[in-house]
Parts: sequence; C-alpha cells; structure tokens
Amino acid sequence: MTSTLDAHPDTTSDTTEGALTLDERHLALVLDGHVRRFHYVWLRDNSWAAPDRVAQSGERRLVTGAIPDGIRPTTATYDAAAGLEVLWNDGQGCVYSPDWLRRHDYSTGPRRRPRPAVSLWSADASEPPRFAHADVVGTTEGQLAWLDAVALHGAAVVTGVPSEHHEVERFARTVGHVREVAFDRVHDVRHDPAGYNVAHTLGELRPHTDMPSYDWPPSVQLLHFLTNRAAGGESTLVDGWAALAELRREAPEHFATLCRVPVPYQLFSEDEDTWAENPMVTLDTDGEVRLLRFSNQLAQPLAAPFDEVEAFYDAYRHLAGIIDSGRYRASFRSGDGDLVTVHSHRVLHGRLPYDPASGARHLQDVYMDVDDLLARRRVLRGEHKPLPAQTPEEDA
Ligand SMILES: [Fe+2]
Repeated sequence: MTSTLDAHPDTTSDTTEGALTLDERHLALVLDGHVRRFHYVWLRDNSWAAPDRVAQSGERRLVTGAIPDGIRPTTATYDAAAGLEVLWNDGQGCVYSPDWLRRHDYSTGPRRRPRPAVSLWSADASEPPRFAHADVVGTTEGQLAWLDAVALHGAAVVTGVPSEHHEVERFARTVGHVREVAFDRVHDVRHDPAGYNVAHTLGELRPHTDMPSYDWPPSVQLLHFLTNRAAGGESTLVDGWAALAELRREAPEHFATLCRVPVPYQLFSEDEDTWAENPMVTLDTDGEVRLLRFSNQLAQPLAAPFDEVEAFYDAYRHLAGIIDSGRYRASFRSGDGDLVTVHSHRVLHGRLPYDPASGARHLQDVYMDVDDLLARRRVLRGEHKPLPAQTPEEDA
C-alpha cells in the first residue's frame, strides 16, 4: 500500500491490514489489526540504513540533533514482505521490517517497562531459593535459574562453593564483573577489633544496605561463608521494597518524605573515605522503587531544611518499624560453602550476634552491579542483540 502526503493529508479510520496513512507529523500503519503510530522524527532517528550505522557493530552513526524539524516522507509504502519503505525528504531511503515495528511500537498496548518484574516477599517470607554451585557455574540452565531468582526475589543462596581463599571473586568473574570500591576488592568479615566496619565486631548487625556512602551504591553483594562453626550469627535478610510497599500503602506522606529528604552517609578509614548524600528512596521513571539506602551505622547528621527534620524522623521511624517487625524477613543459618547473593538496592542484610569462642566464622564478600547480572541473563537467553530494522542489502 502506497501513501504520499498529497494523497493522504490527514488520519483516516481505515483499519484494513497494512493500511498506511501519512499525517502531518507521524504515520499510522495497521499491523495485526492494531493502528500503530510512529512519529517521523522517531522513524528517521532509528534508521538502519547503511550510512546511519556502523557496519561492524550496529552502533548509530546518524546524529539525532542534526535531524531537521521538518523531516517527513517524500513517499512511503508498506507491504507485509518488504515492510515499511520510506524515502525521506533529506534524501535517505529507509526500510522498517514488520517485526522491528512490532517490537518497538510505542503507540499501542502496554509500554515496555524499564526493568524486569519483581516478586515482593510476603509478610511470612521464608529462606531464599538455593542453587548448587556446580549447576550455577557449570550449566546455562543452572546459571539462568540463579539469575532469575536474583532478579525476581532479590536474593538466592549458592551452596557447595569451595571454601577457598577468594573463591567468591572467582565466582563473580564467572558470572560477571566485580564492582571494586574503596577498602578492599574482596572484603574479609570476621572478628577484628581493629576493623573499619561494624561487621568486624561480634554484635548484631541490624539489617542494612551497604555503602549508601556512594551515589550509586554497589547493587549486588556476594557473601561467601568459608566457614561458620560459631554459635549464633544467623543471617537475616529483609525485602526492603516490600517494606516500602507497606509504608507507601499505609502512609504515602512518609514514603514521599523518604523520597525527598537527602541523608548523608559516610564510611571511612585511616586512608579511605566514601561520602554521599541522597534521599533514602529513589524511584524509577514509572514511580516504582529502584533503590533503597538504609544504614543505621553510616548515617551522618541530617542537613535538611528546618521544617523537614521532624517529618523525616517520623517517616524514618515508621519504615524502621516495618523493617524490624519481622515481616518480609528471612532468617536462616548459613553454613560452610554457602554463598548468599543479594540484590542490595532492594534487600537488606544483617546477622544476629555470635560467640567467636564457640567456633570459627569467616566470610569473604565482593560487590557486583545488578546491571551486569541482568545483562548476563539477557546474553544467556540470547536476547541482547538489537533487531536491525533492515538488512544491508535492503538499503534504498
Ligand atoms: Fe553489610
């Protein structure tokens, strides 16, 4: 079906499959019974014509800012085999395949969400799912199952990890990349009276997220128990996003306060320093929680506007009460060779007190970023490469 601006100056109600209508600033195409609309500037911007792409990588060469405001088709045709063929008024011809148009249609149906779906923990949450180390590092299915669990539940335990020095780093490099931060690349957690962090003490570690003292805190934490023979010290995990969902439901004004008031956090040693000031909750573009920062031990004096201070403490007290309530909490014993994986922008981690005289307790941990784990998941699923709108030989 062929259209030109002269032939079809306005939208029509034609819903015949393949019907193409050219409007002043966009076109409408009926595909699978749906009227799909695409702006001219968007179509031109997403050209896969040879001059607009780097041949070897598919990266964009076309410069978005150079597309003229008056970009529009000189001619446009559509048929199911060839796709949408457009000759633009800047002289470039482009082809857009039906599959590509379906995948990127932004005019009908639910919009593609920016992040994968998550499953919030119930109030009586149990232990995170467990996966055998040999499966996770040795099979695609096993690794995908573990990645799915981290994406969906925010936590998973890998069992049977060799109790070798820095094995946790080897594991991280098998599935992605270590996020290096100040202090150590691999952190040792054991009783150390000279340690730089409360984790080196014997006391309870209340559920917290690590390093909100970075603007972008590490978003994945891997905690590898080389040995755990001490009495006590059970691991505690809390789904912070589930706690925030309750807070948002029960007291939207408290939730809004925690999204607004910046809180400074700091972690330092004799020769290192990390410091950042952000609201405890960051939302994504859909208004969903993306990042929770919660660390009692690292908080610094609030420097909020005078009238915000008490509102902040009210909201904080409310959230802390939910986190301490036992709802959305998994409490379990981690044994030798367990590697606890946590999506640490979501799930808080902690431990109960322990007695070092009763047995050894030593774990090593590294950070990663969830972006890399989600990327690994897309690669293993074969989903990561973009679909070209046209093949090189289709260059018009
Ligand atoms: Fe921690």
